[in-house]
Amino acid sequence: MAPNGVVIAVDGPAAAGKGTLARRLAQALGLPYLDTGLLYRAVGRRVLDAGADPRDATAAEAAARALAPADLDRADLRGPMADMAASAVAAIPAVRAALLDFQRRFGAEHGAVLDGRDIGTVVFPAARVKLFVTASVEERARRRFLELRGRGVAADPAQVAAEIRDRDAQDANRPIAPLRPAADAVTLDTTALDAEAAFAAAMAVVRDRLAAKG
Ligand code: DC
Repeated sequence: MAPNGVVIAVDGPAAAGKGTLARRLAQALGLPYLDTGLLYRAVGRRVLDAGADPRDATAAEAAARALAPADLDRADLRGPMADMAASAVAAIPAVRAALLDFQRRFGAEHGAVLDGRDIGTVVFPAARVKLFVTASVEERARRRFLELRGRGVAADPAQVAAEIRDRDAQDANRPIAPLRPAADAVTLDTTALDAEAAFAAAMAVVRDRLAAKG
């Protein structure tokens, strides 16, 4: 168990296995878990529902401000449309500002494991533990393809890889809160690791960090 109030930031590019890892860490440590990507996905969906363009700052800000907890339970938050809409609204400063408070309140209450792109750099720059989880584009595309197939979604491997590259570029090159490791993050490359090995490696980092600063 982690001491109450500990924040663990798990950042990294699309389909690197952050969600699976962060969820397991939260469970093992007895901490709440927040998938912050879902917030951006839900905002993107609301904009699409309104018939607007996810790059439209006014429509996206209005959607972010109107976000309700039930939006996070929608069944259509995954898939290529939702991926790109989320990445587009995430580049809009007013959207990020609207979602920042929610994320900070969530983590500040009892501590938490949060996964996203800017948890260690912007949302919780003082987090005790910061992991930057990554894997090669080819491996991430392979995992995403298998995940889609497992859900019965028809997908073309080359197209999945192209979408991941596009999203990486969009998330890493935006001027606000771009995807990058915090200076004090530990990078975990999971290209050659299965979920079990990635979890073991992450737990070793967590123990080390908590012991060092605790
Ligand atoms: O983690 P994910 O793939 O579900 O995230 C969807 C999109 O949301 C991603 O392309 C970028 C954006 N995002 C972000 O900008 N900041 C976060 N903390 C989480 C996600």
